[in-house]
Order: sequence, then structure tokens, then C-alpha cells
Amino acid sequence: LTAITIYLKDYQAPHYALEHTDLHVELLSDCAEVSATLRFKRAASAPKDAALTLLGADLELLSVAWNDQPLSADDWQWQGETWQFNGAGEGGVLSTKVRIYPDKNLALEGLYRSHGLYCTQCEAEGFRKITLFPDRPDVLSTFRTTIVADQASCPVLLSNGNCVASGKAENGRHFATWEDPHPKPSYLFALVAGDLAVLRDSFTTASGREVALEIYTAEVDQDKCDHAMRSLQTAMRWDEQRYGCEYDLDRYMIVAVSHFNMGAMENKGLNVFNTSCVLAHPATTTDAGFQRVEAVVAHEYFHNWSGNRVTCRDWFQLCLKEGFTVFRDQQFSAEQLSPVVQRLEDVAFLQTHQFAEDAGPLAHAVRPESFVEINNFYTLTIYEKGAEIARMLHTFLGAEGFRRGSDHYFKTYDGQAAIVEDFLSSMAIANGLAVDTFVCQWLRWYRQPGTPVVRVTSAWHADSKTLSLTLTQSQTSHAGVTPEPLPIPVRLGFIGETGELTTTLASVSASSHQLLLEKAEQTWHFSQVEQAPVLSLFRDFSAPVRVQAALSDEDLARLIRLDSNSFNRWSATYTLATREILALAEQYRRGDVRARQPQDSALAGALAAMWPALATSDPALASKLLQLPNLAYLSDQVSCYDPAALQRAREALLLQVLTPLEGSLQSILANEHMLTPYVYSAAAMAARSLEAVALDALARLQPEAAATMAQRWLSVAPHMSAEQAALTTLVHQQLPGADAAVQAFYARWQHEPLVLDQWFATQASAPHASARNTVEALLQHDDFDAAVPNRVRAVVGQFASNNPVAFHDMAGKGYDLLAQQLLLIDARNPQLASRLAGALGIWPKLDPARQACVLKTLDALLNESLSSDTRETLTRIRAAH
Ligand code: ARG
Ligand code: ZN
Repeated sequence: LTAITIYLKDYQAPHYALEHTDLHVELLSDCAEVSATLRFKRAASAPKDAALTLLGADLELLSVAWNDQPLSADDWQWQGETWQFNGAGEGGVLSTKVRIYPDKNLALEGLYRSHGLYCTQCEAEGFRKITLFPDRPDVLSTFRTTIVADQASCPVLLSNGNCVASGKAENGRHFATWEDPHPKPSYLFALVAGDLAVLRDSFTTASGREVALEIYTAEVDQDKCDHAMRSLQTAMRWDEQRYGCEYDLDRYMIVAVSHFNMGAMENKGLNVFNTSCVLAHPATTTDAGFQRVEAVVAHEYFHNWSGNRVTCRDWFQLCLKEGFTVFRDQQFSAEQLSPVVQRLEDVAFLQTHQFAEDAGPLAHAVRPESFVEINNFYTLTIYEKGAEIARMLHTFLGAEGFRRGSDHYFKTYDGQAAIVEDFLSSMAIANGLAVDTFVCQWLRWYRQPGTPVVRVTSAWHADSKTLSLTLTQSQTSHAGVTPEPLPIPVRLGFIGETGELTTTLASVSASSHQLLLEKAEQTWHFSQVEQAPVLSLFRDFSAPVRVQAALSDEDLARLIRLDSNSFNRWSATYTLATREILALAEQYRRGDVRARQPQDSALAGALAAMWPALATSDPALASKLLQLPNLAYLSDQVSCYDPAALQRAREALLLQVLTPLEGSLQSILANEHMLTPYVYSAAAMAARSLEAVALDALARLQPEAAATMAQRWLSVAPHMSAEQAALTTLVHQQLPGADAAVQAFYARWQHEPLVLDQWFATQASAPHASARNTVEALLQHDDFDAAVPNRVRAVVGQFASNNPVAFHDMAGKGYDLLAQQLLLIDARNPQLASRLAGALGIWPKLDPARQACVLKTLDALLNESLSSDTRETLTRIRAAH
């Protein structure tokens, strides 16, 4: 198996356009037969003798005909996945018939069967496993799809678009024909067949189109669809109001699937969802779960315009649909619940995971120049950093300017396959900016990997009451790209001794300013700065950069107390907490193990002064301020990562911070919001989140009392948010009664797969070295099933990516465990294995002894027979220095 690298610079437009696709899919007892009739027309730009090139993988070819004349194997060449036919001339009709085996498809790509349900996953290159086809995103056609299947086992037959015919067929079979009038690439095709129940509702679009909304699930899950339905309706209205985007078919369908490699998929008019991203019920779903459903439902819906109506020319442009759509779903979620909480959660996620990716062996540009396996590029960099670029454009152009740009983009490229330059030039044209300069400048964000660093220096002059601010940007260089200065929006404010100061920049007086850093170094002069301020920098995280500013502990404490930008108050606690944890870890390393008092911590002091009041005035922010950075975040802040030492230092700081707050935490818990019926609202969620944090805090101060309270929540709480919080605290803090609680929880929820996933995940992520043995046992549990990606992620994924203390065992036993699992998983599901393998990318951060263990593991794995997905990931990880 030789790995083939594909380069953006080699892009060639297709020689043949596809005018229409007609599919006939016979679902049989042990296989499926797919007949395709494809009408091609040579592109005006293509040479007269151009070959017709299609793609196919794992297909049994039964017949091929060109304009109804049968072809034989001599008439075509088939090499690897590429099938070529030389006699297509001006164009004509290709008819093929293939046989495939959905039951044996364990990779969950193409057409497969999950718990008796047939479903498809085609993005990125799964359609070629269903039929011979020009399976590339720049070939768009209308589709007509007929599905024929056994009526008893598959009463429901779905595909994209509108159902135009259905009826009985022979031998107890039946059929349905679907027509999708919107030309689309094959990656947006979907087919579903099985025994499903449906929740129906409707939506009337702004221009009066009546749309039928349908959510299909297993019968037992029908009571868990209300939240997704409400989310869908809200998202549809929101996209009309915020982006002028209206839905364009008579039906919108969502299908819940229990075996799924990702979160969800935006197939035209027929989204396929991981059950975990669509099902929600207070009894079984936590607040975080409810939020995720809302966000993913919205994300997939928003793809109808950013992705489907305007799609991508090639997979190098993946960020064009994903980055933009993530930004849109983040905007949407911010407006549903709390904008500040949404922003700080998104930023903490980016800083914890994407920064690490960008600093490690798997770093790549938001628009990469090459790849081996495209499935390996559905990454945090493409999605989350891609979203930050869209957000910076929004910040720079303003909400109205950005909307003018997106209107221009949707209008100009509707029905087409676009590239990143098209998006950027739309933003420039619609705002009257010089197109070439704008595109060239902003494209750098898409081309240059790595997280930029911005160094901040400032000087306040008491006599003139002026302040000069100098910002310097720098980037690490990567092979093949010479870094050039990026356009970096900087939002900032000035905090005086009692609060926000108004200052003047270029004769504009304001308390918050916005700059654009676009050179390697720039200086700004502010006047009427009445006192020495502390700078509140990059408000709301106005650019995805690392900031180096010489802020003292007192400066940070001032921001925590007085900044009017709530996001920056939170970010100042993170910065200060990180500083103190790293200092403690360093003291421990030197053998200085004196007990710490709260007064030794600037963070503890700052929080003691303001937190109890904040817990009343802004419980959502208050609960966030007590969630100190986790080990994954901290690992990105150090050059040599010792998980156990950081864990110990983090616990010590937590104790310093929490001790003065004990009384306040006690009275918060006395409110017992957790024990009231579930309401999905920002206020109710803030109250629950605060109590969950308080319980976790109490567990450190008074373990017995915390254990009693956790047991109470488990026995009388009316919803999963309380149960899950209680279980996590009991298990993660090893409180009395934890084992019995684990057993009882299992007995109660063993028949709810999504709850059971949480049960597995809670144990696999318990931050103790002993969790490795627990994971070994969980892998042997009757309910562990390596065929279900959600279950694998709950155990193996949590262990490798969310339990550093157990995973980074000194003797390498954690790496061995992962390696063993990777081989088992890779043999059936390469995408899943490749993703889990990413956990080994941390190795350059580890101490020499652990590094040696990981390298041994990597070399052993690379000697095995692996999928190209996993091989590419491990090879890139191994190549780091
Ligand atoms: N387009 C989907 C979404 O973001 C995800 C598809 C992921 N595909 C993959 N091969 N990993 O909504
Ligand atoms: Zn997406």
C-alpha cells in the first residue's frame, strides 16, 4: 500500500460536467445492488480526447454501458480508485451496475448498516464506495434516487429532496423515488432505510414556503426529539434574520444513527446525526448535552447555505464551509443562552486543543497545501481556527460589513464550488476595499500554520498623560511558507484603579478601542490617559494569538475585579491561575513542599474579594471563574510536561482558592436548584452549573458532607445534569460510596446507550493512576462494544485524551494500552483509529523517559499493517523532532 500525496497546486478542473444522476438501489438480504445512469457533457475547456475519469472503491462491477452499448474491461483502465474511459467524446450516458456489502462495512463510510438501519456517510470520499462516480466536490448534478427494499424490515425509505413516487414491488418489497432539484456534489448524497419512528412539525419560511420537518429515530427514542425540533426551528428563523438565508426544499429531515464516526452530516435535506447530537431529554441528558444538540442541529442546518448552496471546489477548501459554519453556529449559540459563557467556552476549547495541535507534529495550515487522507483533515485547525478567521473578518468589517460580504458571497457563488479567495474577495468587494490587497493579506491566515505570538509593551507618561503601545507579531516558520505579517484585530480597554478609563486615540475618545495590527511591529499613541492603566488586551479574544504582556499579579487581579469585559475577567483568572500553578509545580520540583496558605495566592485573594458577590450577580461567570485551567490547557503552556506534578500543583491552588469561599459555597448548595425540575434557560443552567462547581469544591474541603450531598442528588434529582455532576464528583474525587454509586448508576441506566457512554467516560477520565486498571476492566465489560464509535470514544478516547495522569504512566503502560486498542479498531474503522492515534502527538512535550516510551510504541505500530489514515497520522507524529 503506497501512500499518495495530493497537492493543491495540482488541481485540475474536471473534463466532463455531470448533468444528471439517476440511481437505483436494491437493498437485498446480504448485499446491495446499485445501478447508476450518469449523463455527461464534455467541458468547453477540456481537450477533445479528454478521458472520462470516475472513482470507485471496494465495488464489485457487474456491468458498464456507454449510450446503451455494453463495454468490456478492455474499454477502460482501472488503477487504484481511478477508472478511466477514453471514448466519451462530446458526452453521453454511462450506465453501471455494482454490488456492495453494507453489512460488512465496518468503516462506517459509504453505505452501511447500523443496528438494522441502512445509512450512508459520503463526506469526504465515501460515495465512491457506493457506485462508480466522479466523486469530487466540484462535480455537481441533480439526483433522482429510487430505493427498493423489504417492506417489513425497512418501512421507511429516504433520500435527498422530495419524494415523487412510492409503492409496492414484488416479493413483499416496496420502493420510493426521491428527486433533488438542487445540483449537488456526491458527498452530500444520503440514503436511509429501516424501521424508524418520526416526529413531525413544520416551519414557514420568510417568503411563505411551508416546510415539513421530520426527525427519525428508533421508536424508543421518540420522546427525546423535542429539543432538536425546537433547535431546528430556531436555527431556521435565525438564519433568515441574520444572514438572509432561507430554506429551499419542501422537507427537512434528520435521522439519528447510533453507529457514526462524527457528530453529524449536512446531506442535502437529509441530515444524518450521531444519536448523541440529536437526542435530548432532561432525564438522560446533561446541560452540556442539550447545548451540544442545539449547536450541532444549527451547524448542520446552516450548512444548507454555507456548504451546500455554495460548496467547495476541492477538499483543500474544507475550511471555507467548516470554518464559516462553525462561526455561524457559535454566533447562534451565543444568542440562545449566554454570549459570554459561549465565548469563553469556545476560546478555552481552542486554546486547549487547537493551540496544541498547531504547536505539535500535526500542525497544518487552515488551508493545507497537501494531504494523504482527507479524513485526517477534519481537524480543530480547519474547524475552530477557521471559525476564528471568519470572526476576525466580522470584527474588522463590523456586523453590517460582514453581512454585506456574506450576501455577496452567497449571491455570486450560489450553485457553484468555490475557493477561499472567493469568500475573501466577496468581503472586499461588498465593502469597497481593494480586492487584491485584502485577499493577499487575509489569505495569510489560511496559509501559515502555527499560532502567532503578539508581544505587548506600553509606557505611560505621567506628565503628558499619554500612553504609547507597541505590538510586535511573530510566527514560527514552517516548511514551504515564509511567514508574512498577519492582519490582527486588537480590541482593548484601559482599567484604572477604580474601573474603566476613557482615553483618546487619533482624536476618538472611547473606553474600548479597536486596532488592526498589520505590520511586524506598530506603535499607537493614546492621549488623555489620566492614570497609569492596566491594559485589557484582545477583548473577547479578538484574534487567535498568544499574547505576551508583562502584567504583574496585581495587574491581573485588577482585571479580575474591575474589567468591564467579562470575557477578559475570565481570561485574567486563567492567566493568573496558570502562572501560580506553574510556579507551585516548580517549587515542588525543587523539593519545597511547604503547605500553601490562601494568602500566598494572588488569585485566591482576588477571588475572595469579589467572588461571593459575583455568584449572586452573575452565577454563570462565577462558576466559570472557579474552573481553573485543566491539565490539557496547562500542557500547552510548558516546555516539559509532567502531568502528575501539574495535577498536584493545580489541586494545591484549588485548595488555596476555595478555602476562603467555603461559607459562600455552602450557602450556594443550600439553594438546591439542582433538585428542581429541568428548565432549558441561561438562568437555570447558570444556577445548576454553579451548584455543580460548588459540590466539586466542597468535595475538597469537606469530603464527607460532599459525599452525602452527591448521594442525595443521585437519589432525588429530577434530571441527568444533577446525577452526572454527582457521579463525577464521587468518582473523580474518590469520595466515600463512589463504587456503590457507580454500580447503582449502571443498574439504573444500562438500557440507555448515551447515558451508559457517560458512565464509561466518567470512569475512564477519573484523574488517578489507577484509572488505567479501571479502563482495562471497562474494555472487558459486557456493554463495551468496539463496533460503536461512541462507546470506543467514551473509554479509549477519554483515557488517551482526557486522562493525562493515568495515560502518561512512567513505564509507558498507558501507551501500550492505547496501541493495542488502535490495532483492533484500525482493522475495522480507520477513521476512528486515526483520530484516537492523535493523542500520541503530545510526545515532544514529555520528559525524555516518557518520550522514549512513546517512540517505542510508535515504531511498533508503524511496523504493523495499518490503514492509510492511521499510518499517515502516526507517520506525521513520528516525524516530529
Ligand atoms: N461535514 C460534517 C460537519 O462538520 C462533518 C463530516 C466529517 N467527515 C469526516 N470524514 N470526518 O458537519
Ligand atoms: Zn460542518
